[in-house]
Amino acid sequence: MARLVVVSNRIADPRKTAAGGLAVALAEVLNNTGGMWFGWSGKILEQPGESDGDVKLQQAGAVKLATIDLTREDHDAYYLGYSNGVLWPVFHYRLDLADFDAGYIAGYRRVNQLFARKLAPLLKDDDIIWVQDYHLIPLAAELRALGCNQRIGFFLHIPLPPPLILAAIPGHDWLIRALFAYDLAGFQSKADHSHFSEYVRSEAHAQDLGEGRWRAFNRTLQAGAYPIGIDVEEFVGLTEAPEGREMYERMKREYSRRKLLVGVDRLDYSKGLPHRMRAFRELLARNPETHNSATLIQIASPSREDVSAYSDILHELESLCGSINGNFGELDWMPVRYMHRTVARARLPGLYRASRVALVTPLRDGMNLVAKEFIAAQDPENPGVLVLSRFAGAAEQLREALLVNPYDTEGTASAIHLALQMPLEERKTRHQALMKTIQKYDVHWWCASFLDTLAQARSEESGTP
Ligand code: G6P
Repeated sequence: MARLVVVSNRIADPRKTAAGGLAVALAEVLNNTGGMWFGWSGKILEQPGESDGDVKLQQAGAVKLATIDLTREDHDAYYLGYSNGVLWPVFHYRLDLADFDAGYIAGYRRVNQLFARKLAPLLKDDDIIWVQDYHLIPLAAELRALGCNQRIGFFLHIPLPPPLILAAIPGHDWLIRALFAYDLAGFQSKADHSHFSEYVRSEAHAQDLGEGRWRAFNRTLQAGAYPIGIDVEEFVGLTEAPEGREMYERMKREYSRRKLLVGVDRLDYSKGLPHRMRAFRELLARNPETHNSATLIQIASPSREDVSAYSDILHELESLCGSINGNFGELDWMPVRYMHRTVARARLPGLYRASRVALVTPLRDGMNLVAKEFIAAQDPENPGVLVLSRFAGAAEQLREALLVNPYDTEGTASAIHLALQMPLEERKTRHQALMKTIQKYDVHWWCASFLDTLAQARSEESGTP
């Protein structure tokens, strides 16, 4: 079996339980093939002139972890500037938040070249390389330029917007052309995949070879939708583990007289947190019986705080939570418990299980795995209800959730009300169907279906597109 090499901006030690489903799932394939995981160490070299240094190799069980440091200048241009100041907002349909500073793209290209330069000598001829996410779109092109002829796949974890939004990025044609250096490009949803097809047809004048195959720039690229899943068994296991049970009991005790609603997100403008708070406020304003009987726990974990759009959203959210509690709170009841903090992964399953409703209402999201984890954590005999934005990739699969338009405050408030009142039988029926879907399309399915296709997909030509 060929060795798998995974490349991503961040890497995690797959042996640590906090690593999460993706790391655990990748670890399985990496372990089976004695594979390697290559990425940024998380370390920034502050002194100007410090060399980007050597690759640090570390053995984690059967998996080799290979990391490099980044200089401050490279990190700021590649990670903060281009990846999170251009690609993230535009791919989430937020042209208004993009900062197209010309220096950023140069830094992005530089770091992708650095990754290629450091990775290439570690590769074997028959390795299979799987590059993850928007930080590393041009990596295959840079590897090809160094003569690497291995099979290389790419998976985009975030949405891909329609061509006319993508076309707002100066250099968008370079980005998409770079994708043709891969043998397979995977997207989260059918919608993202069809945006890609529309783009390459209309902007790149690619030839449609059928069945997701495209010919352009002297290369053939296979593309498709591979919605990512979670490790359902692992998550159910965490729910039933002592820490999961203890958290569940504690939450049940604490909220014995109230129904709990839960939201767990990175504090990101794509997550629609202010919209969610306005819908919750509307619910309270329209339904006095919810006072004193419903509490929303919102965990917003700090994220990318050096990008200005992120501090703006923090202030808006804090002010909304404050005003809801100020207007509706009682001496013995606060409607919103807001935490700007990361909560240990092991505590989430118990919290999810104790909650009657989950609010997963992003304005745009590649997939959203909280939605799937919430489903996995439920007690099948008394499950909670998922209120899910139709703009999350997960909505294509999770049709039995209560789907909402997060921009529609009143509609979302009504759906939350419905969720709070939903009779047991209906909750069970919906949960059963949702559980079946997340079990069928779990993270192992995702890995296997992507890698099986990659094993078949091959551009006949070597070299850069
Ligand atoms: C999203 C992206 C990931 C990223 C994660 C956390 O899920 O798709 O690639 O790692 O956010 O963001 P961060 O910037 O902290 O890595």
